[in-house]
Amino acid sequence: MTTLNKNMPTYRDAELAKAAWDVLKANDRGRYTLPSPKLFPFQWNWDSPLVAMAISLVDEDRAFQEIEILLESQWASGMVPHIIYHVPSDGYFPGPEVWGCGGVPPTSAISQPPILATCLLYIIENSKDQAEALRRADPILTKLTNWHRWWHTQRDPEGSGLVSIIHPWESGRDNSVDWDSPLSAVEMKYDASSLRKDRHHVQDDAERPTDDFYNRILTLIKFGKSVGWDDLKMITESPFRVCDVGVQSILIRADEDLSTLLKLAGREGRETEEIDSWMTRSKAAMGRLWHAKSGSFRALDLIKNELVPSVSAATFLPMYAGCATDAQVKCLSKVFEKAMSECKFSVPQTMPDTPGFDPKNYSRGPSWPFFNRIVADGFKRYGLTNLSDRLREDTHAMISAQGFREYYHPSTGEGLGGEQFAWTAAAWLIWAGTPAGGATTGVSI
Ligand code: GLC
Repeated sequence: MTTLNKNMPTYRDAELAKAAWDVLKANDRGRYTLPSPKLFPFQWNWDSPLVAMAISLVDEDRAFQEIEILLESQWASGMVPHIIYHVPSDGYFPGPEVWGCGGVPPTSAISQPPILATCLLYIIENSKDQAEALRRADPILTKLTNWHRWWHTQRDPEGSGLVSIIHPWESGRDNSVDWDSPLSAVEMKYDASSLRKDRHHVQDDAERPTDDFYNRILTLIKFGKSVGWDDLKMITESPFRVCDVGVQSILIRADEDLSTLLKLAGREGRETEEIDSWMTRSKAAMGRLWHAKSGSFRALDLIKNELVPSVSAATFLPMYAGCATDAQVKCLSKVFEKAMSECKFSVPQTMPDTPGFDPKNYSRGPSWPFFNRIVADGFKRYGLTNLSDRLREDTHAMISAQGFREYYHPSTGEGLGGEQFAWTAAAWLIWAGTPAGGATTGVSI
């Protein structure tokens, strides 16, 4: 990435910004960026768009490349895989042979939260030459529409308005407490303990998922492979089928942003009408994810047809999607404030009063800067700037003290998990990109 030092926006905290750019440069592999060179040595679906937003502040061409190369691996069904194995590496499990779906380059066979349209809107709205950026985005918009259609049809064949994930990794919150109950129904048919590579890179087991978790997710992968990753069979026969409030909200927000992009590109019509109808249907179904007694949104186990017993940070994302009612917003602010009375650094991935909360372990408790960014965006959307400022300040405090780690202890701020983390650096760069801490044109993510 040769132009990264040119035209750098002015940051109040110049040293921190320089360190963030250094991470992005070190993880750059030409047309895509590694999340973390040792722990995650390939391209990841929802890391790349966020990284592209940051890169677009200095090099729009390179930002577009990050997105284009991701979409080159889109499946004929419209699905965009969660990992693209551009070059072989034996530092990660599971490798492409475990998924067994081939492709050049090979990919995994599941997806990740569809945040791309929202990130692309940010890039276009901040572009130096919007007409040219929209021209370049034209084929991307078609691919994005196909991807969203895949979610709304293949992952919701009944047209219920709730999209399914069939593997915890599709949520991007891998071993969240949210998946404990649905995963308990998945038999542990395999032993993945000796196959795991993550432990070579992160020494403290307390920061990583358990072997039980890995055994169950390996069972899910073997199941998918056994049915040839057939979308309908995945929905009707998978032992894990959940509507994640995170994916559901990110998709609704991305639908809104994709519709805006198509309109900006002069493509208002059949496509935007279709997207608007998906949005209406999905928003109408959000009530099924609301747990009135606790005043929180929760994941819905679609096999047992019951809400999960946990409250995770995904509970705030309907605000990011603009589909929480005023009464729900009041309840969610209380959930946030209660969590923050127990944790110094927002926002823990699981609310501390939820059984299973574990402040050091991956998606079960730590604070994740990228997630903070989107939760803050939701608070801002509803005028709760005190809460979004709190998220920004806490994120700043954690990364200034501990560097760009994968996640942080929500009580001590200690940096945990992987090092040299691209989306942590990117999240900070876009957050700090302007004096006000927002995007340059007022669009925010
Ligand atoms: C972990 C995260 C996932 C992320 C990936 C690469 O698996 O849970 O959300 O995309 O790491 O950073």
